[in-house]
Amino acid sequence: MPPREWKQRVARVYDRFAPTVPFRYLPPRQAVRIAFNVILDREPDPAGGAEYAQKLASGELTRHGVAEMLAHSEEFRRRVPIGNVLLSMHVSRSEFVAGLPAAARILDLGGTHQGLPDGALVHLGYPYPFERLVVVDLPVDERDAIYQGGSRGEPVLSELGPVEFAFHSMVDLGRYDDGSFDLVYSGQSTQPITLQVAGPTTPSTVSPWRACRRRTAASVSGPKVPSTGMCSACCSRAG
Ligand SMILES: C[S@@+](CC[C@H](N)C(=O)[O-])C[C@H]1O[C@@H](n2cnc3c(N)ncnc32)[C@H](O)[C@@H]1O
Repeated sequence: MPPREWKQRVARVYDRFAPTVPFRYLPPRQAVRIAFNVILDREPDPAGGAEYAQKLASGELTRHGVAEMLAHSEEFRRRVPIGNVLLSMHVSRSEFVAGLPAAARILDLGGTHQGLPDGALVHLGYPYPFERLVVVDLPVDERDAIYQGGSRGEPVLSELGPVEFAFHSMVDLGRYDDGSFDLVYSGQSTQPITLQVAGPTTPSTVSPWRACRRRTAASVSGPKVPSTGMCSACCSRAG
């Protein structure tokens, strides 16, 4: 049996019989090691590990407190890359959404949430209440399968305000009167583009694959999103 299969078999047996322990009950050094391994993807350095273990033992920090410090550390933000390109795009959109300005009337282009009925903007962390949010997206059966599970089009009252849905292409915004929104946002503009789909589905994109050495590009459209904006492209790690 190849070594990989052996490892998988041993792991399965181990998983069946070894008792699991909640993180909050782990002994200090073990809790610190696991927190470093999981969050920073490395072993604790001797000084840092000892200090955290001592603070846990003395009750100065809880295990959750240690994990929280590592998860919000500069090292985590700067040195731990996001290995999954879709997750990376999602994190980028979340951070962008959290930094958007307050607006009363919002048009969100491509704004469906993968599973929730009140749209992505609310759940990605838009910070302000609004008077009206219109989410534009393709008709359900024209969307990628992962975006078919959210809204079916019924208006809903979200925790930030009322949300309406309009299912049509974002390229055609002629039905909206001039000046009828205070903020027009397109989360779809930050997305991985494969060579196969880059042209047809991203009207604003100016040949991003030409600039990209790998197989996936990220597009960020300019001020005139979605159909006429300028575009920059960058290579993703997951090519
Ligand atoms: C990358 S997802 C973004 C979803 C969500 N706004 C977010 O930020 O997580 C892209 C969304 O844009 C929609 N979309 C793609 N092309 C579109 C088009 N031409 N018109 C309207 N919506 C489109 C997709 O159906 C999908 O829901």
